Amino acid sequence: MKTVPDLESQFTRLKLRPLTGSLGADIVGINLNAVDEELIAQVQLALDHYHVIAVRNQNLDPASLHEVARRFGPFTGNPVHIPLDGFDDIVRFTRSAADRGPVVGEDLHMDMPWMEIPPATTMLYGEEIPPVGGDTLFTSLSAAYEGLSETMRSIINDLMGIHSGKGVFALNASHRALSVKSNAQAIDDIETEHPLVCVHPTTGRRHLLLSAALCRFTGMTEAESMPIINLLMSHAQRVEYTCRLRWEPGTLAMWSNQCLMHAAINDYPGQRRVVLRTTIAGPPPKAASAAECSP
Ligand code: SIN
Repeated sequence: MKTVPDLESQFTRLKLRPLTGSLGADIVGINLNAVDEELIAQVQLALDHYHVIAVRNQNLDPASLHEVARRFGPFTGNPVHIPLDGFDDIVRFTRSAADRGPVVGEDLHMDMPWMEIPPATTMLYGEEIPPVGGDTLFTSLSAAYEGLSETMRSIINDLMGIHSGKGVFALNASHRALSVKSNAQAIDDIETEHPLVCVHPTTGRRHLLLSAALCRFTGMTEAESMPIINLLMSHAQRVEYTCRLRWEPGTLAMWSNQCLMHAAINDYPGQRRVVLRTTIAGPPPKAASAAECSP
C-alpha cells in the first residue's frame, strides 16, 4: 500500500482493516442492502487505494447483488458465461463436494483482459464457503511495478501489450459447473492491445497491466516478448506483493481488476463452494506515458 496522508480519516462510515502491506482490506460495519451515495463513495475510495476489499457479513442474493453492483457502475457484459435466469449480469460458480480436478480460475489471471475495456471491478459474493480452504490469492500489479528497478521501468514504460483470448473458451467449457455461451468460441480470435504500464484513473498510481493472456508486445516478436513477459509474471508473484482473502459465507469481495491478478486456491476437495460474480465497467486503461504528457 502506498501511504496516503489522511486516507483513514476519510472512512467515517466504515471500519477498515488492511490485510497486508501491499494490498487488501477487510471492511466491517456496513450493510450493502442499505447504502447511500456517501457510503458507496467511501467503499469506492477504499477499493481505489487497497485494490481488493472484503466486505464482511452481508446478506445478498442475485437480486440484491445486482442492485448493489449497479450502484458502482454499469455491467461490462460477459461474452463467456451464461448468466443466471433473470440476471444478465450475474454468474454463479458452483463447486460441488463431488467435483475433482481444477477449480474455476485457479491459475493467476486478470478477468477478461482481452476485452477492449477490461472490467474495472470484479465483485464476488460467497454464498457457500468451505470451513477451511478455498481462499483467493491476489497479487498487486502496482507494488510489482514499484518493485522494479528504474532501468527496467524505463525499458517497459512505453510497451503496448497484446492480450489474446486463445484458450478461454476451452478452459471455461472444460468446467462441468460452468455454462458457456454458444458463440464464446469466437473469443479465441480476439487480440486486444493495452499499454503495459498504466495509471489508476483516480489515484494516479502506476500499475502493470499484466495477465496470463499477454502474448507479445506491439512491434516485437513473440520470441523477443516472452522473456520479458515471463520475467514480469514471475516478479509479480513475489510473496510480498500478495494477500490471501479468507472467505466466509456473506463476504462480498470487490477487486480493481486491472491493478492485480488473482487465483482461486484449489485446496478444498470434498467440500462445496458457491460464489456469485458480476463485473463493473470503468474507463479504458490509461497509458502512464500518455498521462505524463497530459496537463
Ligand atoms: C475468479 O477467478 O473469478 C474466481 C475466483 C474465486 O473463485 O476465488
